[in-house]
Amino acid sequence: MKIRMVNGPNLALLGNREPGIYGRETLEEIVAAVRRRGESLGATVEAFQSDIEGELVRYIGQSRGQADGLLVNAGAYTHTSIAIRDAISASGLPCVEVHLSNVHAREEFRHNSFLSPVCVGLILGFGGYSYELALDAVVWHVRKTRK
Ligand code: DQA
Repeated sequence: MKIRMVNGPNLALLGNREPGIYGRETLEEIVAAVRRRGESLGATVEAFQSDIEGELVRYIGQSRGQADGLLVNAGAYTHTSIAIRDAISASGLPCVEVHLSNVHAREEFRHNSFLSPVCVGLILGFGGYSYELALDAVVWHVRKTRK
């Protein structure tokens, strides 16, 4: 099984970026932990990060046939991007929306997600561990829907 893990703007800054909100783990450390968990689940994880909306749109939209599922933390684009939402839909793949922080406990402008309606589910609020939980969830979903 192949899972694509997609990270949007400012997430390459994890480790130094507002550690009180996002924790001290770097994106590289989180990706390594998700890959290790993937090994134990029989899933390979391909990770992609970009600060550029169009690159995220292209990568997600071109995932059909390249992966079995998606983990997407689109950062602030979560709250603004219909294009990323459309790319998730176009991929035809099950997608789990991920956030390190509990966006609902934060500013009101973070409460809306354009992505949630086209995702199979959401995991948020557990720091870097959110991604490991999201990997479990997407692998579970892919296996369940294959039966
Ligand atoms: C985030 C939450 C977003 O509101 C914010 O813009 C981010 C990170 C999170 O993982 O908690 O960049 O997606």
